[in-house]
Amino acid sequence: MRRLVRFSLPEVIFGDGARFGVIQALKALAVEHPLLVTDAGLIAAGWAEELSQHLQHHGFPVTVWSAVTPNPKDHEVNAGARHYLLEDCDGLVALGGGSVIDAAKGIGLLAAHGGDLRDFVGIGRTREPLPPLVAVPTTAGSGADISQYCVITDTSARRKMVMADKNLIPDMSLIDPQTLSTLTPAQAARSGFDVITHAIEAYLSIGANELTDSLAMEALELAAVHLERFAHNPADQEAGRGMAHACLKAAMAFSNAGLGLAHALAHQIGGATDLPHGSVIFRLLPPLLGRYERVSPERTERAARAMAPADAGGSTVEDAVRWLEALRASLDPLETAAVQPLDQPILHAWAEQAQHDVCYLTSPWKPDTEDLVVFLQECFGSDANQ
Ligand SMILES: [Fe+2]
Repeated sequence: MRRLVRFSLPEVIFGDGARFGVIQALKALAVEHPLLVTDAGLIAAGWAEELSQHLQHHGFPVTVWSAVTPNPKDHEVNAGARHYLLEDCDGLVALGGGSVIDAAKGIGLLAAHGGDLRDFVGIGRTREPLPPLVAVPTTAGSGADISQYCVITDTSARRKMVMADKNLIPDMSLIDPQTLSTLTPAQAARSGFDVITHAIEAYLSIGANELTDSLAMEALELAAVHLERFAHNPADQEAGRGMAHACLKAAMAFSNAGLGLAHALAHQIGGATDLPHGSVIFRLLPPLLGRYERVSPERTERAARAMAPADAGGSTVEDAVRWLEALRASLDPLETAAVQPLDQPILHAWAEQAQHDVCYLTSPWKPDTEDLVVFLQECFGSDANQ
């Protein structure tokens, strides 16, 4: 008997200028006083001011909250929620990358429930609907504008808390490729690595289904065509649109299929080191493909073929690994050097914790602590960083 498939999405507006749809979106959601969640980078690039002025011009009082950093922290979200309640806001607009959108989700979660973010770690832990949330993603990476995930760093435990819940899906996503033009090449590369990993892990997830498969494959094909060009020149409009499209499809896939071990481990490593998420998962992904191939050969080979660019010289899993490693070396040379030195207790702790991460549940490869420590040594050992 075939199992039932559930597929959840926000309403999406995609295309140049989509960000100006925020007025209609807020009206449709009956929001009168939004909290605009953004960060210092978006303020410096001028996007936050533009959106604030647009909102004010249309009669919305705007309160801005921008005290959000990459790998958003629990205390930032707590402070944002206090600000939301103090200012008597009735909805959220998140203008930024995954960190900003996740912070906005966390703010909505706490505004609706009170309590502590730790209470919501896991799957389906919300009890109340969240305040309306309109997301305007400004990176082609996290897919937080589409997904039911919210990832916040627990600064006392130095690990990331992962919350997965249908109530964490934004009400609307206004995906505007024009906003990608002010990314730095490193940001474009790292967010693109995240897209590739989302697509591969969604395709290989044990929660994958007919609906998510085609989206994941198309995301890989799009990223293979557009990522390098986009990362070398984020102002390239065509490549930006291609990556925004890849990001959307990968997010539609992973939000509904789940992810895998690259993310289960990255949540521990990113929480402990504060390294960029895209860099961490891309250190993990190439060696992981070999493990995935052992447990799911046909699907891993199909994914490898989908991401083989015409000039990559082959389409086996080995070719894909070589292409991914070359991509990482050329686009993110700094990457994970800061992880060193790693000692055994740290690797052991990450290996233990990763098995409790939501993303471990859907991984096709389910290693124990010992296997995971060996794998981490392979990824982050002294030879790996040469
Ligand atoms: Fe990710």
